[in-house]
Amino acid sequence: MRVAFLSSEAVPFAKTGGLADVAGALPKALREHATDAIIILPHYDQIEPDFLTDKVIDRVPVEWRGGIRPTRVRQSEAAGTSAYLIEAPEYFWRSSIYGYGDDHERFAFFSSAALALCKHLAWQPDIIHGNDWPCGFAITELRARRRYDTFYGPTRTLFSIHNIAYQGSFDAQDLWWLGFGDSPERDDFMLKGSASALKAALIAADALSTVSPRYADEVQTPEQGYGLDWLLRKRRDRFVGITNGVDYDIWNPETDPHIAVNFSAEDLAGKRDCKLDLLRRFGLTPQPERPIIAIISRLVAQKGYDLIRQAAGAILETGAFFIALGAGAKEYEDFLQRWHDSAPQRVGIYKGYAGEPLAHQIEAGADIFLMPSLYEPCGLNQMYSMRYGTVPIVRATGGLDDTVENFDPERGKGNGFKFYPYTASALLEKIREALYFYGKPEAWRRIQRNGMTIDNSWSAVAKKYLEIYKEISKF
Ligand code: ADP
Ligand code: GLC
Repeated sequence: MRVAFLSSEAVPFAKTGGLADVAGALPKALREHATDAIIILPHYDQIEPDFLTDKVIDRVPVEWRGGIRPTRVRQSEAAGTSAYLIEAPEYFWRSSIYGYGDDHERFAFFSSAALALCKHLAWQPDIIHGNDWPCGFAITELRARRRYDTFYGPTRTLFSIHNIAYQGSFDAQDLWWLGFGDSPERDDFMLKGSASALKAALIAADALSTVSPRYADEVQTPEQGYGLDWLLRKRRDRFVGITNGVDYDIWNPETDPHIAVNFSAEDLAGKRDCKLDLLRRFGLTPQPERPIIAIISRLVAQKGYDLIRQAAGAILETGAFFIALGAGAKEYEDFLQRWHDSAPQRVGIYKGYAGEPLAHQIEAGADIFLMPSLYEPCGLNQMYSMRYGTVPIVRATGGLDDTVENFDPERGKGNGFKFYPYTASALLEKIREALYFYGKPEAWRRIQRNGMTIDNSWSAVAKKYLEIYKEISKF
């Protein structure tokens, strides 16, 4: 089976969040199940040149804006399978991956180029697996192509939602020159007075998935469907939630090259060294007996920063250190700066995207990992935390609800703590509960071990995707 996995970001090339982790891991895991999976993503100029030494494919003829744009594509094996990086300097050599007025144009080009590439290589995919709105154009274009392009006649599509709030909206006038100006395609794009690349893909794909069963239910409700719940309810027989996995080649405290001392569920001694190392890195007082609560996330409302802001004073009154790594909205960056300035020995911050090493050092050195998300399609850091013996406190939403089980001291079961109402007081209560058990070393070890021994590997997850691929190939 041949699968072309399309994504706007993938580890180790380019990353702003969890989509990159998924795109870097799932195709590799599919290979282990005898599937010929490739990754296609844009070639951003931030990508390290070391990753791009494998091969150059010149002059791929991409149909674009009524003509042919010859396009260079680089091939790399750095993600454990072949990755193809589409080169278009005018679109992708910019300081950020997203956030431009012409994002729809940039990713529409990427989508067309991905389809042109497979054809140029005479590599006929059984499945095109698109992820989030930037790949929505490819899914929509493929459905149209099946009508006239025999190369793509047998190809089927799976579209995965990683975050339904990002809808790829743009001025519907642009549909004309993008080639989707006529009905019914035009109507498929229309959402809330604009065009949406996400909505068109949700209609065009042969099957749909999202990244946890709980989120699959949530997006079918008007509260969390962002205007698309009706469509997902209508397509529910072709829509499934599959929880993401963890790439233990990258996130494993026994082998992690980024952390001060390696450790394991059997021998946690090294975690104390990692904690001291982390306190030192953030210029905090070297008091390893005090708990460290940490967060790593994009600084957006989704991640629950409003609750943290409300609870900030009370969190410090518990006596804990707080460490935050995040990039995003200025209002949250300013909050973090003020919080740090008010207690520089107790609150450590890093504003910006730090890359992998610091994220690993925080996972290894912290005691508690906070994810008080307003909503969370899957969430990866709670699963990474568990493997590093760092106990998650999460809000019971989406994938966080599916992956975190409240600690039950009577039965010794559970791998973390979760709260339900989206309020600062519910968050604080859970923090106090977790800190109570932090003070009982035996119970704490139990929670840590329960989390560290869970197997969330991609291999089992890849099998579930494979089943869907096989099923839709029959359509
Ligand atoms: P989301 O995809 O919504 O951002 P996830 O929990 O799925 O959330 O994944 C976030 C990923 O991005 C994790 O690998 C996390 O370590 C990483 N990450 C987030 N913010 C930063 C940052 N500022 N610096 C480094 N890594 C970050
Ligand atoms: C999105 C979601 C996150 C999920 C990630 C990978 O960015 O916000 O919850 O883990 O995609 O699927």
